[in-house]
Amino acid sequence: MSRIVYVNGEYVPEEEARISVFDRGFLMADGVYEVTSVLKGKLIDFAGHAKRLERSLNELDMAAPCTTDELLEIHRELVARNAVTEGLVYLQVTRGVADRDFAYPKDTTPTLVLFTQHKTVVESPAASTGIKVISIEDQRWGRRDIKTVQLLYPAMGKMMAKAAGCDDAWMVEEGAVTEGTSNNAYIIKNGRIITRQLSNDILHGITRAAVLKFAEEAQMVVEERPFTIAEAQGADEAFITSATTFVQPVVSIDGVEIGSGAPGPLALRLREIYVDQSRKQAI
Ligand code: PDD
Repeated sequence: MSRIVYVNGEYVPEEEARISVFDRGFLMADGVYEVTSVLKGKLIDFAGHAKRLERSLNELDMAAPCTTDELLEIHRELVARNAVTEGLVYLQVTRGVADRDFAYPKDTTPTLVLFTQHKTVVESPAASTGIKVISIEDQRWGRRDIKTVQLLYPAMGKMMAKAAGCDDAWMVEEGAVTEGTSNNAYIIKNGRIITRQLSNDILHGITRAAVLKFAEEAQMVVEERPFTIAEAQGADEAFITSATTFVQPVVSIDGVEIGSGAPGPLALRLREIYVDQSRKQAI
């Protein structure tokens, strides 16, 4: 079914959407993005995504395409026009159109594209079965805190996982897990939730921030530090978070079952809290 997408100020059927071949997003991956989930037609943590977008743009000296209020309006309009009850809104900003040059061109108008996807997020099968992950070397660039569209290595990682009969890959740098291909990674040992601390090494997940806050409010102990694959394999539970998976249990790593080999109770509890709270706070 054809969608209505947003391109540079216009709402158009997807077949009619046009981007220049000189767009720097296309030529150089000179662009950033956000993915915001939708539940019951409402946006989850829009403010967090808008703030991170602003940070990504600033880090790359890229102009903002419009105000946050205008962005919210566009998100809502697209959700309404495409009758999205559950799914996501994808947003991309690039530096815009210019003759190919490595140096940033001056005064280009940023390109702004948004589209929606219908997706079952709450009742996803993986939430009840859990997912299997493999570990791979983290070969991405060093500024993973900026949410750029250069996603080729994560895509390769996902394919390596599929080839191994698994669902995703956890990336490892200097012996410690950084994050999943498109999610943040956690283990639980003796009731303590362990996840890598924020730095340039990982994306500062919006779901991560919310889940850690809910965990602390529920009196769970959170330890922000690196952990190894061996430590993860010996953990009681493991899980991932992202805007499109919420909290999803991980049941095996490199073929080794985590805990009982089934989704763990704390991960499932966190998922429940996250879904409940997000529903309440959606706008
Ligand atoms: N990915 N780490 C990476 C590398 C990611 O790409 C993502 C999100 C996350 C989780 O961030 P958040 O909780 O803000 O979604 C962590 C999105 C969902 C994607 O690329 O589709």
